[in-house]
Amino acid sequence: MKIKLLIAASAALSISFSAIAKAEPQAEVLHWWTSGGEAKSVAVLQNEFSSRGGSWTDMPVAGGGGDAAMTALRARVLSGNAPTAVQLKGPAIQEWYEEGVLADISSVAEAEGWKNVLPASIANHMKCEDTWCAAPVNVHRIDWIWANAAVLAENGISMPTSWDEFNASATKLQKAGITPLAHGGQAWQDATVFEAVALGIGGPEFFRKAFLELDKDTLQSDTMVAVFDQMRIMRGFVDSNFSGRDWNLATAMVMNGEAAFQIMGDWAKGEFLAAGKRPGIDFLCTSTPGDGFLYNVDSFAMFEVDGTDKQAGQLLLAELIVGKNFQKVFNMNKGSIPARVDVALDDFDLCAHISAQDMATSNSNGSLLPSYAHGMALRGAQSGAITDVVTAHFNSDMSSNDAVEMLLKAVANSM
Ligand code: BGC
Repeated sequence: MKIKLLIAASAALSISFSAIAKAEPQAEVLHWWTSGGEAKSVAVLQNEFSSRGGSWTDMPVAGGGGDAAMTALRARVLSGNAPTAVQLKGPAIQEWYEEGVLADISSVAEAEGWKNVLPASIANHMKCEDTWCAAPVNVHRIDWIWANAAVLAENGISMPTSWDEFNASATKLQKAGITPLAHGGQAWQDATVFEAVALGIGGPEFFRKAFLELDKDTLQSDTMVAVFDQMRIMRGFVDSNFSGRDWNLATAMVMNGEAAFQIMGDWAKGEFLAAGKRPGIDFLCTSTPGDGFLYNVDSFAMFEVDGTDKQAGQLLLAELIVGKNFQKVFNMNKGSIPARVDVALDDFDLCAHISAQDMATSNSNGSLLPSYAHGMALRGAQSGAITDVVTAHFNSDMSSNDAVEMLLKAVANSM
């Protein structure tokens, strides 16, 4: 049964726009931006909202990747008390739309001309049938390697350009007593590393077939076996305390020289920057070996709520989120690049420039791909099924062949 039937349906339709325009904007905002860099970034939105007369109730739910936040969201919606605005992305937006609980923000999108300033690939994620149902914040890239510059220099190591080179450097570092790979053993972090490895080893077409099309032959291919082989090698490069560690603590290991590398989306850069570390000097960034670009677009969806004050808050938030100033300041803190195409990147750092250039190249040669690990490519049931296998393999001595067999079954069962 649709959740919509469980909640009062009267709200949005019966309230006139003039009443909304006169109301004092309010918003309860559910998000999972709780690390140092993330909190600094979300504060930009909070401040802009307050300076336009809005009153913001923060609902942070800690937990990288947002799994805990999504559980909290489900509980709130089921109890008929949805938050006003929610950090939500990819196909999950459409899944919630199908439940009939999302507010339509087309009036803002049209007034602000979103279709002229957002690339079609991003705009498509924000649309539900003919309406706009989410506002995009940024473009995060997933397939990055971060490194401690001094540790690499002291050990005569450069940023890897192939997985073999990565393995050789990691082995050398390990012998020197340095943890090669800072990692947190949480399912979403395992999936983050896995998809970067899969893109690197298999290439963009392999990635597309495996994680967008769920093509059986690709899922059980020798290439997929090779991807799991590399994951087994990576498992040997993490320290013994990796289990359950939060991603930002893994980033801190790279910052303080305890570890050399981290494979993580560029919110890790937000963390380095918040700690005063300088790109190209204190820390290095390069894309993981191989072609392609895995994107992850954060966005906010508004849920249907009662009250003109909350509805006014939703419209104001949507306007601010896609606003030019917010897109610049927020993304300089967050580590991502703007979703809007017309924000000048002059004040952004060198990693952001690499990201923007690579994104343009990938967009033109067909290798711009949505991240499966960060909920951009598949519906929850399918991405969850893949991640369960990835994490089961990473945390056991399962063979690559067994992992591939399990992957095929898990994906089939999730359909
Ligand atoms: C989100 C980022 C966030 C990261 C770590 C990702 O899924 O897109 O905005 O910083 O998770 O929590």
